[in-house]
Amino acid sequence: MNKIISEFKHRREALKAQLKPKSLVLLMAPPPILRNGDNVFPYRADSNFFYLSGFTEPEAVLLILSQDLGGQSILFSRPRDPDLERWDGFMLGQEGAISELGIDEAYAIAEFEQNLPQYLQQVTSVYAPWGKMPCLDKIVMVTQKNLKKQVRRGVSWPTEFIDVQSTIDEMRVIKSVHEIALMRRAAEISVKAHQAAMQFTKTGLHEYEVEAHFSYHCALNNARMQAYSPIVAGGANACILHYKQNTDPLKDGDLLLLDAGCEYGYYASDITRTFPVNGRFSEAQKHIYELVLAAQLAGIAAVKPGALWNEVQHVMLEILTTGLVKLGLLKGDVKTLIAQKAFLQFYMHGSGHFLGLDVHDAGAYKVEGEWRTMKPGMVLTVEPGLYIDAHDQTVDAQWRGIGVRIEDDVVVTQQGCEVLSAGLVKTVADIEAWMAR
Ligand code: GLY
Ligand code: MN
Repeated sequence: MNKIISEFKHRREALKAQLKPKSLVLLMAPPPILRNGDNVFPYRADSNFFYLSGFTEPEAVLLILSQDLGGQSILFSRPRDPDLERWDGFMLGQEGAISELGIDEAYAIAEFEQNLPQYLQQVTSVYAPWGKMPCLDKIVMVTQKNLKKQVRRGVSWPTEFIDVQSTIDEMRVIKSVHEIALMRRAAEISVKAHQAAMQFTKTGLHEYEVEAHFSYHCALNNARMQAYSPIVAGGANACILHYKQNTDPLKDGDLLLLDAGCEYGYYASDITRTFPVNGRFSEAQKHIYELVLAAQLAGIAAVKPGALWNEVQHVMLEILTTGLVKLGLLKGDVKTLIAQKAFLQFYMHGSGHFLGLDVHDAGAYKVEGEWRTMKPGMVLTVEPGLYIDAHDQTVDAQWRGIGVRIEDDVVVTQQGCEVLSAGLVKTVADIEAWMAR
């Protein structure tokens, strides 16, 4: 069995070790979502399903029995069908699930509902991501109802329904060497695409043309999928935090905020750079940019084992608020302004998020009410920003409509951290030099 497949198997073993006796886990890969007519949206496997199985096709159920019941991993999936495969392409089928993915038993998906009563009768506890896949919830509840009707025949049913999502999410927080290698590659590809997009940008292009250039360069480097909808925001559009229309023309004198990252081997990258459409920052843009950059560099320096999650935000808030006072955008004492959350006028999001199979990756940020401690193998983004509304009459006109975010992908290491996206230009001088080339 190759190394990657043994990693999936190892994860199933690790999950099994956390199960109660007489229990089973159910995960579902949903059917594709209809876009219109018989045309479906591109399918992307559920991250937890993929994390435990490596299986990427739609319409499947993964059932894992607790160790005392045998501990088998059982996959119900679409059987191979030459007619369907003629239209929609290769399917792994049951033999493939066993030989390629190291699954213990494999059956056709049509057998799942038929066989579920036998499995449920054996167990006390059922683990599933309750509430996430209504279709799975419904099948289990209908089966449960039918089992109860058979009480006089001595039939039993599970009595405990446990949400497995947080357990799997928690497993995903610390990345393996193999996962970090994939994320390093994802970041490298996105860095190349950002570099290309930066040089391609000029006055008169549309935001979607820069988007196309970015995606094209990701695909040229073997990453066809984006980890999320790219945010390509010229001028004041950058003040819309998750702007994705990407339809406007780029104007001379404006900044362009490009928040985009490819997915590679199912792992996300998430990088933001903000740069001048015409290749030169104005004085006002430079002041805001350098303030965000100072905060981001200090935020990255705060990422190390033992640091609390919110320390990065605290470090960045101090720098941003001090700088906003110096520039005259906020008035008053820095400590008081931080306590009053005055920064919310210009900086309204957190310091970043976990990154992995999902762009906003799995895992709790607080554990038993306390911010979690950073540990080697965690991957996160550090992404401060300042967004000055185009209509904000409380600030001098020179600042209005400037939106800047700078975002890198960072792995916590034994000593501190490694910036996976470090190859991408970031200072004013480096960006201007890169765009002039
Ligand atoms: N890249 C988008 C976000 O982090 O929300
Ligand atoms: Mn992000």
